[in-house]
Amino acid sequence: MLNTIFAKSDDDDDDEFQRELEAIKRREEVRKVDHRYGAVVIGAGWAGLGTAAALRHSGVEDFVVLEKGDQVGYFWSTLWNHLRMNSFRHELWNTPREMTAEMEDYKPKSQVMEYLNAYTDHFGIRKHIQFNSEVKKIRRTSLKDVGNDEFWVVEMSDGSKIGATNLAVATGLNRLKYVPNIPRIKQYGGNMLHSGQYQDPREFPGRTLVVGCGNSALEIAGDIAAESKENHVTLLVREGRHFVKEKTKLWWERLFALCGAYTESFFLDDYRTCRKDLRYHEQVASP
Ligand SMILES: Cc1cc2nc3c(=O)[nH]c(=O)nc-3n(C[C@H](O)[C@H](O)[C@H](O)COP(=O)(O)OP(=O)(O)OC[C@H]3O[C@@H](n4cnc5c(N)ncnc54)[C@H](O)[C@@H]3O)c2cc1C
Ligand SMILES: NC(=O)c1ccc[n+]([C@@H]2O[C@H](COP(=O)([O-])OP(=O)(O)OC[C@H]3O[C@@H](n4cnc5c(N)ncnc54)[C@H](OP(=O)(O)O)[C@@H]3O)[C@@H](O)[C@H]2O)c1
Repeated sequence: MLNTIFAKSDDDDDDEFQRELEAIKRREEVRKVDHRYGAVVIGAGWAGLGTAAALRHSGVEDFVVLEKGDQVGYFWSTLWNHLRMNSFRHELWNTPREMTAEMEDYKPKSQVMEYLNAYTDHFGIRKHIQFNSEVKKIRRTSLKDVGNDEFWVVEMSDGSKIGATNLAVATGLNRLKYVPNIPRIKQYGGNMLHSGQYQDPREFPGRTLVVGCGNSALEIAGDIAAESKENHVTLLVREGRHFVKEKTKLWWERLFALCGAYTESFFLDDYRTCRKDLRYHEQVASP
């Protein structure tokens, strides 16, 4: 409880008075936090786990990872069942090769979860993770006067507060769903959902329209089409696209990886490797 009595009468001292009041409030706020850590990492996904491993690698042990879900890679665990990574191997920094040796180059979701868990244990991160802990608000409190600059107050959904000298926000971008404002979309009476809610192709028998042509759209369209010959899937694409068959891409990626010279940007640059797939490209991209 903060009890402060100020007995000021001179108006000219108002600014100083406000500053002093603010400083007292901040000091009180810092005192009130339930725990204090050298570092707080928000999110136990790819980025959060990588940050935690880097902290441990640098000898930092005074940190906590706050994860709103009940497991590491929680966001990935919510994605659809037949999902595969589209990036080749996709090993995190400093991951021992043995950890992924038995895994496929394009890992299915189950192997991604397995990998993230193995990574967590290998780098001794699990003991630092606090699951089912959603961060609601973060605020920076500057306490220069007590030699403690950039102090973060992290407010949890249960009302508790955690203090941190350093903060890493690793809450991801792709988990935020975006549905464009398409006129009269609300009048559509069929089964409609965002790709982030898609789980199983069996829920989409018959005709399906997939809006968009990013990786989500292409994977989901393929998933539904592959489920049954009766399924008819149409992609709604608003601009032209270049397509590269997975086989071609894989072939080049393996070659580059073998030479130790693999870079995705090299592969994607001016579609050098697209030539072999031109006929396929014409078929798919023709209006
Ligand atoms: C379907 C799909 C497939 C993808 N495939 C690939 C791929 O093959 N290769 C690739 O490189 N990228 C891929 N991506 C991009 C993908 O988003 C990133 O690779 C990866 O998930 C990003 O990791 P991240 O740690 O930044 O975020 P996330 O994996 O989203 O992790 C964020 C974590 O923060 C937690 N969190 C969020 N808010 C809070 C909060 N307020 N309090 C506490 N915790 C919180 C979440 O629960 C989650 O665990 C894909 C994306 C999608 C949607
Ligand atoms: N297997 C995998 O590894 C996998 C699977 C899914 C996603 N991902 C990753 O996740 C991230 C997000 O991918 P995403 O496919 O979900 O999103 P995205 O790449 O942003 O694609 C969104 C698509 O929606 C279209 N679109 C947006 N507004 C529209 C409108 N008003 N009308 C018609 N079309 C509209 C866009 O068209 P325009 O292109 O014309 O703008 C685009 O084709 C990417 O990094 C991707 O690589 C990976």
